[in-house]
Amino acid sequence: MKFIVLNGSPKGAVSVTMQYIHFLEKRFPEHSFEMIHVAQRIRKIEKDQKTFNEILDKISNADAVIWAFPLYVYLVHAHYKRFIELIFERNTMGVFAGKHAVIFSTSIKFYDITAHNYIHAVCDDLKMNMAGAYTADMPDLTKVKEQKRFTLFAEHIFQVINEKQPVQPRFSPLIKREFIYKPGVVNKPVSSMGKRVVLVSDALDEDKNLNGMIQRFQKSIAQDIRTINLHELSIKGSCRGCLHCGYDFECAYDGKDDYRQFWEEELETADIIVIAGTIRDRYLSSLWKCFFDRRFFHTHTPRLMGKQIVYLIAGPLSQIPNLRMILEAYMELEMANVVGFIVDEFGDSPDIDLWITKHAADAVQFSVEKYIKPVTFLGIAARKLFRDEIYGRLRMVFQADYREYKKLGLFDFPQKKIGLRLINGIAGILLRIPIIRKKFRGYMKTGMIMSHQRVLKTLFPEV
Ligand SMILES: Cc1cc2nc3c(=O)[nH]c(=O)nc-3n(C[C@H](O)[C@H](O)[C@H](O)COP(=O)(O)O)c2cc1C
Repeated sequence: MKFIVLNGSPKGAVSVTMQYIHFLEKRFPEHSFEMIHVAQRIRKIEKDQKTFNEILDKISNADAVIWAFPLYVYLVHAHYKRFIELIFERNTMGVFAGKHAVIFSTSIKFYDITAHNYIHAVCDDLKMNMAGAYTADMPDLTKVKEQKRFTLFAEHIFQVINEKQPVQPRFSPLIKREFIYKPGVVNKPVSSMGKRVVLVSDALDEDKNLNGMIQRFQKSIAQDIRTINLHELSIKGSCRGCLHCGYDFECAYDGKDDYRQFWEEELETADIIVIAGTIRDRYLSSLWKCFFDRRFFHTHTPRLMGKQIVYLIAGPLSQIPNLRMILEAYMELEMANVVGFIVDEFGDSPDIDLWITKHAADAVQFSVEKYIKPVTFLGIAARKLFRDEIYGRLRMVFQADYREYKKLGLFDFPQKKIGLRLINGIAGILLRIPIIRKKFRGYMKTGMIMSHQRVLKTLFPEV
């Protein structure tokens, strides 16, 4: 069979992901795997229609397409995202329809699920048949057990494609409502209470609803707020994956474009950040993705601690819970507080007016009160994963993270809690005695609320 491999690594052939494809080439010489480095060559693909058409011709003549990519900031690299946008913008979806697709990623398993959901949904939108998906941890290829697992996966997908087995889609098509939002007059703008508000958007003139929402937010605050359009910033390109940043947060683009200055002088000094974007396919624009990828110069260290975040999103966000999860998880890891999301998919213009103004007021109030809501599983799991990775196998490359994590007390391993370890050890021995175990089981429910009750009694002795 003939496979076209769409490589999502900005590093092209020098990519971890592509080593797995070489493994397939060597293990299954009866099949061919042609790699196209779409993320690395996106400028040419975008500018030169002939190059784009050549890729489509190859896809047309192939038995299946392998979407092979590294995870980049909860998703795929911005350039890969741009390639997907081009498919839809140039109305070339027909080339993919009815073809089998395979998803393959390498990563450190940080939100590989959201990237897979994204590509799977794109494949469903393209009416492709999903033969199978595989998420490899970066070094898996070096382990015999994982080589076997990967081989079995490959054999399985060959079978699905060869036998043209039926495949059910997983994601419903998006339904976009025809609605024009017209912001009304703000009767009572909210005082910013001296808080610095920065609104960042990627709005183009044609993004009518987004521009309306931005205008409404600006007018909801009595003072002028800083508004920045990403199209007006000099951003030379997306992250190259070179990892220069790992040692001391230096970026290969430093001094060459505006990004670092913008991030440090505008965003890190803000109290309230408004992120405004229109949904393009199943995410925001590739420009927004480039913004998130470039933030990686501060690698895995939180930089927006204590800031209030408001999202203004035009498009069917409620139909893409994956995107909402990414945007929430992102800010939880940054230790910022998501005040909320305002979308244009519900209500009429006066409703949206009220929601935006309410969120502006909430953002100011939370900022004054320094309110940060409790972190959810999204942030907790992410932090634990990075805690272990930065302490362990990633430390050599990400030394700047290691230093910052130490400073911030993020290496909060449970084994450091000597008291708890002692109690657990003693309890473990005592609970081997049947009579004690029986007693302990009897106290299970009341035991769980004992300390809470003690606190309540101390705080409210008179009640
Ligand atoms: C800017 C950047 C962002 C990344 N984001 C993620 C991520 O969100 N989740 C994850 O598990 N790994 C992430 N990684 C790790 C890469 O996915 C991983 O190293 C991958 O194997 C690289 O493959 P490649 O050499 O083919 O580009 C990121 C790496 C870089 C440089």
